Amino acid sequence: MGMSFVALDRLVKGGQVTEAEAPRVAELWDEIRRLKRDKRAFVPAHNYQVPEVQAVADLVGDSFELAVKARDLPPDQARMVVFCGVRFMAEGCHTLAPERPVYLPRLDALCSLAEVDADDVAERQDFLRAAGRQFATMTYVNTYAEVKALSDSCCTSSNAAKIADRLGVPDILFVPDQNLAYQVALKTKRTYLPPPEPHKFHPREYAEMIEPLVREGEKQGLRGNVFAWEGACHVHHQMSVGDIASIRRQDPETTVIVHGEVRPELQRAADQVMSTSQMAKYVDAHPEKTRYAILTECGLVVRLELDHPEKQFYKPCRLCQYMKATDLESVYRTLRDEPPEQRITVPDEVRGAAARAMTRMIELAS
Ligand code: 13P
Ligand code: SF4
Repeated sequence: MGMSFVALDRLVKGGQVTEAEAPRVAELWDEIRRLKRDKRAFVPAHNYQVPEVQAVADLVGDSFELAVKARDLPPDQARMVVFCGVRFMAEGCHTLAPERPVYLPRLDALCSLAEVDADDVAERQDFLRAAGRQFATMTYVNTYAEVKALSDSCCTSSNAAKIADRLGVPDILFVPDQNLAYQVALKTKRTYLPPPEPHKFHPREYAEMIEPLVREGEKQGLRGNVFAWEGACHVHHQMSVGDIASIRRQDPETTVIVHGEVRPELQRAADQVMSTSQMAKYVDAHPEKTRYAILTECGLVVRLELDHPEKQFYKPCRLCQYMKATDLESVYRTLRDEPPEQRITVPDEVRGAAARAMTRMIELAS
């Protein structure tokens, strides 16, 4: 992790900024830095943000690192936060430190995974209780506060298996990413129970589908089950195992790293399954590896190319339009105007329980 400072001439050379845009980028960087100082504003950015935004951020990280910082940032160090990422991240930041205003530069910076109805989660919990299962609900941070509030602990792609190990119950209801649920099952020796079709949960049919799998897992001596929710990230779920196969055919020495949100068959075909910051640290820690195929959002790969011009990165990555919604102009305007409609808050009645689930994640992960 750490602040990734990127020089403007490198961005122009790399094609991230055109010659014509460069003077405006330089001007916005100066203005943003001045406003951050004058207003004592903290600007975190997710690893997927465009490099010119990462360059002016106070911290660049994965969802877990950004959540820890939101909790630990001393009040006198920052009067406000302008969050360069997507809405659930800004919401998490407010959840953990509600006194400090948090602004999101673009209100259309959402996340396809996070759209889960809390009533549906409560229904699934009722189903598992009625079936006599001893379970904990784990919620990926890519959710909104109402859903986090229903869970025993949150997790991110960097710590999901560790948290599942430490919750002390055999069964896990894992919301909402079905692919990360698979990774948790694999790493913690539980049976992976595939989700029902989206919006088609019928208790009896679902029970009939999972029961033989549960029995099979018991026979194999697995320690419990992971009940996967029917969510997936539209960016990672699109990636296919053919992307990996063709790169391996072309260059068998390439190191293939995938995010935990890709489908199970891609996780099995990869050399490593990691969070975004774990990927960056892995590349830093392996100077001897020179060629990579990294299957995640392209922002991370662009950043790695800038950090490691000596290495070669194949590009089976995809763009997340939500992460790409934020640009320097919107960061600048938000810092300057503090528009009230861009301030992200969580209703008091859910904030406490959501904060408990996020805090439990931070404790269990360390
Ligand atoms: P990380 O926690 O790995 O940064 O992932 C966040 C995300 O949105 C992945 O698509
Ligand atoms: Fe959400 Fe997927 Fe975009 Fe990450 S890449 S923010 S999980 S839609």
